Amino acid sequence: KSCIDHRLEKYSQQPSADFLCDIYHRNQLSKKELYAAVTELQLGAVETTANSLMWILYNLSRNPQVQQKLLEEIQSVLPENQMPRAEDLKNMPYLKACLKESMRLTPSVPFTTRTLDKATVLGEYALPKGTVLMLNTKVLGSSEDNFEDASQFRPERWLQEKKKINPFAHLPFGIGKRMCIGRRLAELQLHLALCWIVRKYDIVATDNEPVEMLHLGILMPSRELPIAFRQR
Ligand code: HEM
Repeated sequence: KSCIDHRLEKYSQQPSADFLCDIYHRNQLSKKELYAAVTELQLGAVETTANSLMWILYNLSRNPQVQQKLLEEIQSVLPENQMPRAEDLKNMPYLKACLKESMRLTPSVPFTTRTLDKATVLGEYALPKGTVLMLNTKVLGSSEDNFEDASQFRPERWLQEKKKINPFAHLPFGIGKRMCIGRRLAELQLHLALCWIVRKYDIVATDNEPVEMLHLGILMPSRELPIAFRQR
């Protein structure tokens, strides 16, 4: 709250210079709504994206051969001193496959829910109106029924076996009308960040003990990640 108050105060003479201040001064949102929206974005957008980045760095540290292949793709597309740009990503299918694979194995958001607005038959279950259904992303992504060698971090599966993968088995951003509105933004940020990091640093595992997933609203690593960055 104090951050937002401070910002509104700072730009009060020139509200159009600041996004939040502009919204507030045009009475598009009350102060209470502004607090709520920023908190929600912090949790729903920033934490989820940051946590997804942590998990993929961890997965790359444990799979050096994947990291090497990714580095080769990045180097083949990007000239040495050029910052990665959105256009460059079109030519990086392996990068996209790496993120997909990381979000399958170690999703940030473990489930989402839906409340049935009418009685529905699902397989052998007759579900009454009002039933709360849980779509468990983590279970879907870890199931051998959906993914061969499900516990392996193998981005190639998204390039070679794509046709065999049931699209409903991979829902890290949810599905349907209420799916994540920030998906494209999050993916863009993660792809660009990865390009930059992998090109500059070798991400190495500092130990090989397991890292568990803790369910704290989002699925977070159970301990400080055992990774280090070595300048290339
Ligand atoms: C890797 C990062 C992210 C992940 C894993 C993620 C995941 C999700 C999931 C699983 C849902 C529920 C979807 C459903 O029930 O079908 C959701 C909803 C939502 N997300 Fe994200 N999200 C991420 C980033 C973002 C970002 C960057 C923003 C905003 C800029 C954002 C804004 C939202 C909003 C507003 C909703 C609610 C949509 C609705 O209820 O209609 N998310 N997200």
